[in-house]
Amino acid sequence: MLQVVKTYLKFLLKSTNQHGVHSPFVFELVTKCFYDKKKYTEYNLLKNHRKKLLENKQSIEITDFGAGSKIFKSNLRAINKMAENSGISPKRSRLLFRLVKYFKPSNILELGTHLGLSTVALHLGHADASVVTVEGCENTLNVAKHEFEASFGKGVTFINSDFDTYLKNTDFSYLKENKNHWNLVYFDGNHSKEATERYVEHLLPTVTNQTLWVFDDIHWTKEMEETWENIKKRPEVTVTIDTFQWGIVFFRKEQVKEHFTIRV
Ligand SMILES: C[S@@+](CC[C@H](N)C(=O)[O-])C[C@H]1O[C@@H](n2cnc3c(N)ncnc32)[C@H](O)[C@@H]1O
Repeated sequence: MLQVVKTYLKFLLKSTNQHGVHSPFVFELVTKCFYDKKKYTEYNLLKNHRKKLLENKQSIEITDFGAGSKIFKSNLRAINKMAENSGISPKRSRLLFRLVKYFKPSNILELGTHLGLSTVALHLGHADASVVTVEGCENTLNVAKHEFEASFGKGVTFINSDFDTYLKNTDFSYLKENKNHWNLVYFDGNHSKEATERYVEHLLPTVTNQTLWVFDDIHWTKEMEETWENIKKRPEVTVTIDTFQWGIVFFRKEQVKEHFTIRV
């Protein structure tokens, strides 16, 4: 915990807002998306979906895919407690919605559905996108799928699989428009260095010039910080933005390699 506080203080010292950002691409992103203060009607849908989960007192047996753990423990957990303690915060879900709305990615992949709070943000940001979300715990995924479909109908493909199995065994040539390419990947599960670097290897062949990747919890552990530094060094990666909770990665060849640290 102390480590995270120290890291956050370092982040605050280093970080900036739009001032001092000379890249027009990043300046526009910060001013028109990160700091967009409009009250989108979809924010109410995000809020209501969370409320429904927070009111659900049923319990489910979960399979714990803990970061770095090879032993999955079974646990009975109340859905409302799961919604309270894990998953994207209300503020981040609005930002995720705005990111999708801003870039309009046609094929979106989420690694780590949990109860689907972030999945809803990904869907609402661009309803025409095809969203695929992958979750290892079947019972958790079933709740996410049931609740999503009750509120929004179809639009998201829910996949019960370990991330590695899904990434190794899936032929991405079915993806619409940009065949074989994910335009946005949200990495939100199994925050270990080894696993994250494996996912990166698997997914690098699926990027285009327009792809963005969002990594959650880049400063949560020393390991994840190292992973983030390694991602930044990749030759395919050009612009990156560290928002403390998230690391956002772009592959735009027209940009010079540059790393930004921005408060959101
Ligand atoms: C932090 S939660 C995701 C939160 C969700 N994206 C949200 O914001 O509401 C991470 C999820 O990833 C799943 N997970 C972790 N490691 C996994 C793995 N190796 N394969 C499949 N699922 C995994 C966990 O079961 C957990 O539900």
